[in-house]
Amino acid sequence: MHTLTEFPRQRLPELLRTMPKAELHVHIEGTLEPELIFALAQRNGVTLPYDSVQALRTAYAFTDLQSFLDIYYAGASVLLHEQDFHDMAMAYFHRAAADHIVHAELFFDPQTHTARGISIETVIHGLKRGCDTARDELGISSALILCFLRHLSEVDAFQTLEQALPHREHFIGIGLDSSERGNPPEKFARVFARCRELGLRIVAHAGEEGPASYIRDALDLLGVERIDHGVRCVEDPQLVERLVRERIPLTVCPLSNIKLRVFDTMADHNVMTLLEAGLCVTVNSDDPAYFGGYLNQNFLEMFGALPTLDARHAVELAKNSFDASFVSDDQKTRWHAALADTVAQLKQGPVS
Ligand code: ADE
Ligand code: ZN
Repeated sequence: MHTLTEFPRQRLPELLRTMPKAELHVHIEGTLEPELIFALAQRNGVTLPYDSVQALRTAYAFTDLQSFLDIYYAGASVLLHEQDFHDMAMAYFHRAAADHIVHAELFFDPQTHTARGISIETVIHGLKRGCDTARDELGISSALILCFLRHLSEVDAFQTLEQALPHREHFIGIGLDSSERGNPPEKFARVFARCRELGLRIVAHAGEEGPASYIRDALDLLGVERIDHGVRCVEDPQLVERLVRERIPLTVCPLSNIKLRVFDTMADHNVMTLLEAGLCVTVNSDDPAYFGGYLNQNFLEMFGALPTLDARHAVELAKNSFDASFVSDDQKTRWHAALADTVAQLKQGPVS
């Protein structure tokens, strides 16, 4: 690692762009670009409450998480058929390939679709087919994580789990998303206990808008292996110590945090504090179609606004993305080696 201290600063953007990386926090419904929303609306005969792509984009002026979620759920209403889910996933995978993402763990929200009369089979088969196409055509590895919507009841989550179980081989884990405040982890303790019994990997959004205590409860009551967001952990130093000791990764989403006003500006983001505390931080795009950019844009804007971040941090963040993923140790070792190759090549001259 010490050799990275000599890494030329002017090549940092290229390192950020070309280093192989994993994305562990992206909601596939949050990758629906306005153009695709309109194309799918036309294909499926769905009427949108916006006249044009531009009018829809103009509505993306969020004040908090809920103001975003209202538009995000409306955007997903154009998804009706298996092919729509496949096409949405492929549009994301093309962006991922351009950003040198070699592995992506995708969140999906089945309840957003089953509530509109779409079968869970349509959702899962479409996304799974997209993952297969991405592997075959783009060489990207991926996995699906089914999220329960926390503004709905635990009974609804149990029903969703039952509906999903015939398709168990197509998803690796369970997450928890949607409106955080007022919907604490304890509301879902029993359904997550069942998910753990089933051998599913467990993650949850916590400490985005909600307090640090939700992060502790996600660990103690849900048994999470990663925390999605988690930036508010700094409000509880003992919790930070625990996250470091137990090496619980945080999937941080810089552009999302600015757009949803978790921090005022990127210069105010606490990622440096998290890294200096020794936390396993990863960088992710959350809902890139809504928040102004995909994964590399998150890296570039974050490093641009925080000049104390350097090449060592870039490499640490890429390594963390592999270490925090749900792949085998052998695969992690191969990606670490590919990362080292990219760094070595870049130190000699531009790669792309
Ligand atoms: N669903 C999609 N994006 C989300 C976020 N950032 N927080 C909670 N739920 C979400
Ligand atoms: Zn999220």
